[in-house]
Order: sequence, then structure tokens, then C-alpha cells
Amino acid sequence: MKGVVLAGGTGSRLRPLTHIINKHLLPVGDMPMIQHALEKLAEAGIEDVLVITGKQSAGLYLDYLGGGDALGIKLTYKIQEKAGGIAEALALAEDFIRPGEKFVVILGDNLFKDSLVQMIDAFRQQEEGAMVILKEVPDPSRYGVATIKDGRIEQIEEKPAQPQTRYAVTGIYLYDATVFDIIKTQAPSARGEMEITDVNNVYAASGKLSHRFFTNWWIDAGTHESLFQANLLVRREDTPCKPC
Ligand code: DAU
Repeated sequence: MKGVVLAGGTGSRLRPLTHIINKHLLPVGDMPMIQHALEKLAEAGIEDVLVITGKQSAGLYLDYLGGGDALGIKLTYKIQEKAGGIAEALALAEDFIRPGEKFVVILGDNLFKDSLVQMIDAFRQQEEGAMVILKEVPDPSRYGVATIKDGRIEQIEEKPAQPQTRYAVTGIYLYDATVFDIIKTQAPSARGEMEITDVNNVYAASGKLSHRFFTNWWIDAGTHESLFQANLLVRREDTPCKPC
């Protein structure tokens, strides 16, 4: 299975830091944010990875990650010319994925403790469709929020003002190659972006969207507060302190 890491977007909630550098190169613990996603993929045996980024800092990604040798993976790069949404960025992976091939996507600002091994294994067994990873959170209205009926995701609402559940849809998605046809049927949302939630809802409506839960910490480091929290969480993992 291949991997795709999305590292485009504007990083507007992290200004002014993102005026000088792309969000996914900001430090989390002792490495740039994106490296956490790449290491999770490497750990799960995903060795062929496409990084999609904007033009800002594109050269720095090459300087730092190169071909991926230091991480034991093979990296390919694509540029998203303008931040038109997660689904638009994902569409750029179409040439990278062979027809019939399954793959895993990580949003580059997502950090988490759990290993992806079991989820990837389960998705390999899944005949077709997609899988999302959920996490129960206290503040679901910041995220895509899933409602579940009879053990299946019924629907996902993007940043609902009044969430029906606390199940945030994290930025870790597993897809079959039909995702590219689905993206082509979608239109931009009211905020002018091609939404990944709309794509996932197509799978949900046809009963082909499975899910798993993260049991350990997960964080979307897209704001100053959550970037700070992400640093604390990663530091705590790196330097476990006995009384904590
Ligand atoms: O983190 C999980 C959440 O990520 C989900 O719960 C939401 O359903 C999903 O829409 C997304 O919400 P965000 O508001 O956090 O998305 P954001 O615009 O911050 O983009 C997340 C990542 O996707 C970011 O690290 C870069 C990448 N991206 C985003 C856009 C808009 C791109 O590569 N290109 C883009 O055009």
C-alpha cells in the first residue's frame, strides 16, 4: 500500500508563523511537523509516499527530506498550486495510485500516538470503499463529526455548530482508487473548498465507509494553542517522567 501526506493549505490559523514558513515544517518536539506523519507511515511498512505541498517552502521540503532515504521510505512530491481544499489536493495523487490500488492519507498537521498497523491491516482485508479513524473529543465542532447507527457511520458533518456526537473524524483516511472518481463528482462547498467530508459522505451513503477509533492521544496542530499542546504531548512521549 502507498501513502499520501497532504501538506498544502494556507496555515491561516497559524499566522504570523506561516508567513515565513509552511505549517508542516514548524517544529513539533525535535522535528518538523510533517516528519511525524512520515515516520508513522514508515513504521506501518508504507514505503512509497507522495507529499503534496504548496509552493511556499517547497525547496525546504526537498532540502530536509530529500528522497526519503533517512526515513527508509521513497518520497515523491507534487505541488498544489492554490489551496482549494483537502479533496482538491488529494485529486493530485491520482497518477501516483495505480487503478485498483488502496492507499492511506494523512493530513500533515495531524499528530497521534497510535500505530497505524492494525488499521492498515484491517483495510487490506476490506473488499472496497474507505475507512476513517475517529477520536472522541471534548470539542467536536472544530472537526468533521460522525454519527454512527448500527455500528456504521451514517453521516459526517463538517464543523457543525451543534454536533450530534463527540466523534471527530481525524485526518487519517484509507481509500480505494474509486476516491478519484468520487472527487470528480463533487463541487466546492460554501467556503469555496473541495471538502473531504463530502467525499467521505459518498462512501458512507453507499455503506462502504468503515471506521476505527484512536485510543491514545490525537491532535490537529493547526492552531497556536493546539501546536503548543502537540509539542507538550510529543515531548512527554520523548521524555517520560516517572511522577507524571
Ligand atoms: O484534522 C482533522 C480535520 O481536518 C477533520 O476533522 C476535518 O473534517 C477536515 O476538514 C480537516 O479540517 P481542518 O479545518 O483542520 O483542515 P485544514 O484546512 O486545516 O487542512 C488540514 C490539512 O490538509 C493541512 O495540514 C494541509 C492540508 N491541505 C488543506 C487544504 C485546505 C492541503 O494540502 N490543501 C488544501 O487546500
